[in-house]
Amino acid sequence: MGRDVIIACDFASKEETLAFLDNFGDKKPFVKIGMELFYAEGPSIIKEIKARGHKIFLDLKLHDIPNTVKKSMNVLSNLDVDICNLHASGTKRMMEAALEGLIRPDGTRPLLIAVTQLTSTDQEAMENDLLIHEPIDKVVIHYAKNAKTAGLDGVVCSPLEAQKVHDACGKDFLTVTPGVRFADGDVGDQKRVMTPLQAKVAGSDYIVVGRPITAAKDPLKAYERCINEFVD
Ligand code: C5P
Repeated sequence: MGRDVIIACDFASKEETLAFLDNFGDKKPFVKIGMELFYAEGPSIIKEIKARGHKIFLDLKLHDIPNTVKKSMNVLSNLDVDICNLHASGTKRMMEAALEGLIRPDGTRPLLIAVTQLTSTDQEAMENDLLIHEPIDKVVIHYAKNAKTAGLDGVVCSPLEAQKVHDACGKDFLTVTPGVRFADGDVGDQKRVMTPLQAKVAGSDYIVVGRPITAAKDPLKAYERCINEFVD
């Protein structure tokens, strides 16, 4: 798959989500569905959005013992999603088990990417809460390398880290990057942001864009602006 824009559909209900997707007519953007919507609506929301022709990144960030993650990934791959994820901190063994669980009877599987350190975790929380004393950048790259060794397809990271991840794990190892804002847009609660064009230059493979599209007056126009800057 080449570069693409993934819209973060952070809505609370199926009705809101489908009404939002109606804005795109025949265009079928790649969408990210997170915990809130999945827990509210269950697997049927995935089937419905798939049936409308969208690719889906199901952002459930699994983290449990390897056997449980393997079995859960098996359930998710049968929903025909395109990308799933988990926490790299669950260990290489957990990531390997997850990959095994994802393989469908026909041999295909969704892409599997890892969250390294959440952007809400800073150095202080790592030191005090998790007793991790290495610098956060080093931890992120170490977790990315673990994900690569376990056979995963990539990581979720800041566009500011995309180049370093590619340097450490190879150019084919995917970087999926949230924290994207238009040059003239609201930054909101995101701290370290890049424009879609900057993310392209930085080497992101996919950008995950939420509010710059979902809260735009004209979501289709905002989406097309992202595509023009990032993909074309
Ligand atoms: O609205 P906004 O563009 O900030 O949405 C970004 C999306 O990416 C949200 O769904 C958010 O939860 C997700 N995300 C993030 N930062 C991370 C991981 C995920 O913003 N480190």
